[in-house]
Amino acid sequence: MTGLSPAAPRRPLVSGNWKMHHDHIEALHTVRDLGLRMKPEDVAQVDVSVHPPFTDLRTVQTLVEGESIPVALGAQHCNDHDRGAFTGEVSPQMLARLGVRYVIVGHSERRQLFGMTDELVASTLRAVLGQQMTPILCVGETEEERAAGQTEPRLSAQLEAALRGLDATRLAGMVVAYEPIWAIGTGNSATAVDAEDACLFVREKAGELAGADAAASIRVQYGGSVNPENAADLMAEPDVDGLLVGGASLDAAGFLEIVRASRPTAARRRG
Ligand code: 13P
Repeated sequence: MTGLSPAAPRRPLVSGNWKMHHDHIEALHTVRDLGLRMKPEDVAQVDVSVHPPFTDLRTVQTLVEGESIPVALGAQHCNDHDRGAFTGEVSPQMLARLGVRYVIVGHSERRQLFGMTDELVASTLRAVLGQQMTPILCVGETEEERAAGQTEPRLSAQLEAALRGLDATRLAGMVVAYEPIWAIGTGNSATAVDAEDACLFVREKAGELAGADAAASIRVQYGGSVNPENAADLMAEPDVDGLLVGGASLDAAGFLEIVRASRPTAARRRG
């Protein structure tokens, strides 16, 4: 399988989605531990983000800024309005003020457990872009869709609903995470070949929507049961530009192993 060749190599992005784990004290310990273990060469060619719960963000922001820890601050979700009577919600503007760089949009848990529709995914994505943050748009098929051979139509529909009408420059700077729902939290990761096929499909679809240059620049992550053992194989694929890591990102040492496994390999440079 050959990837679309990029004009410039895409810089890998490894993101830790903590979901509803780690309170702000645990967050402090985890990110400090990560900072103490990280060496400059670990992040010379790889971007790293952590996505703690909302209540931890200010603590993590203060720590990474105060101690110059080379980790970008990320959020897991946000509302699609900048302010208003939306009890319990957090706005993109509030996140931007905290120095948040990346916001996960449309995670399958938000779609399945909290009724996030394709329309809401699209408006949230635009609201995040409107605050000059980078969305990490999640797409992926269920086990049933996969068994029925519906993976590509499902990805296609999710991408069209979220991305149609965005201009090419905005799309080029975005991140899409291919997260097959059957692989999330199951210990059953997609194979590297299947991840590559899906990530290439995402890139080609981005090309259809916004042109070849945007397709070559957009970063496509794989997520679903990533761990220190399978990270290097996944990252050796030419169209897998990063990893969105759940459970294995909660421990600093394990997460750092995944970051190290994501440094561009000889195979990737050839690809
Ligand atoms: P796991 O790595 O725990 O399977 O979670 C993946 C995920 O949903 C990341 O967003």
